[in-house]
Amino acid sequence: MTPQQDQQIGKVGQNAASKLDEYRTFFQTAVRNPRMVGAATPTSAAVAATVAQVVPTTGTPVVVELGPGTGSLSDGIHRRLPEGARHVGIELGEGMVEHLRAHKPWMEIVHGDAGDLLALLDKHNIDRVDAVISSIPWSLLPSDAQNHILRQAAEALAPQGAFTALTYLPADQTPGGRRFRARLGHTFDEIITHTTWRNIPPILHYICRRPLR
Ligand SMILES: C[S@@+](CC[C@H](N)C(=O)[O-])C[C@H]1O[C@@H](n2cnc3c(N)ncnc32)[C@H](O)[C@@H]1O
Repeated sequence: MTPQQDQQIGKVGQNAASKLDEYRTFFQTAVRNPRMVGAATPTSAAVAATVAQVVPTTGTPVVVELGPGTGSLSDGIHRRLPEGARHVGIELGEGMVEHLRAHKPWMEIVHGDAGDLLALLDKHNIDRVDAVISSIPWSLLPSDAQNHILRQAAEALAPQGAFTALTYLPADQTPGGRRFRARLGHTFDEIITHTTWRNIPPILHYICRRPLR
């Protein structure tokens, strides 16, 4: 075996170990706290590719992920961001936070609650956000919590900013999902939807702009 082949095999092994660690962390957190995670596995690369499209590629944008989990959306976001940008993840799960800090050193990880969004941004000297990308389990949240987080996300957005929310397509038809959809309609002037079928279950993207203040 050549040294190059040896190196190649080493890399494949490292990637497999990192993936395994990602799935273990995600699954363990989901088992301990199913309502907080709202999923059994991280979202697919197909979802991540679509989500990343809202990320500005010029200037010095600020992107905030609400509920980055093990970071399945984070690599795609990171790849698009120009130098000088900030990529902040606000994550409630302690195991997820440890995983992110170990595997995504280029991200600013805040161990906190999306419900404290404005206070957390203030603490980290952020006064406007160009993209909020959220994959917290919106449809499982009580009405007042949905409202409280959405209002803060809308307030944090820069004038040209975009707010993205992901939900499972079947969850959109539950009472919590319908309430969330209606709440988005009261919060944003523009809402575009997109479904990624290459995820189990399929994912519904809401891409929202121009908060109704
Ligand atoms: C469905 S998982 C999504 C994880 C990842 N972004 C993905 O797409 O695979 C939801 C994540 O949101 C986190 N979460 C739930 N409620 C939260 C909150 N109020 N604040 C911050 N993170 C929260 C969970 O711990 C979990 O990591």
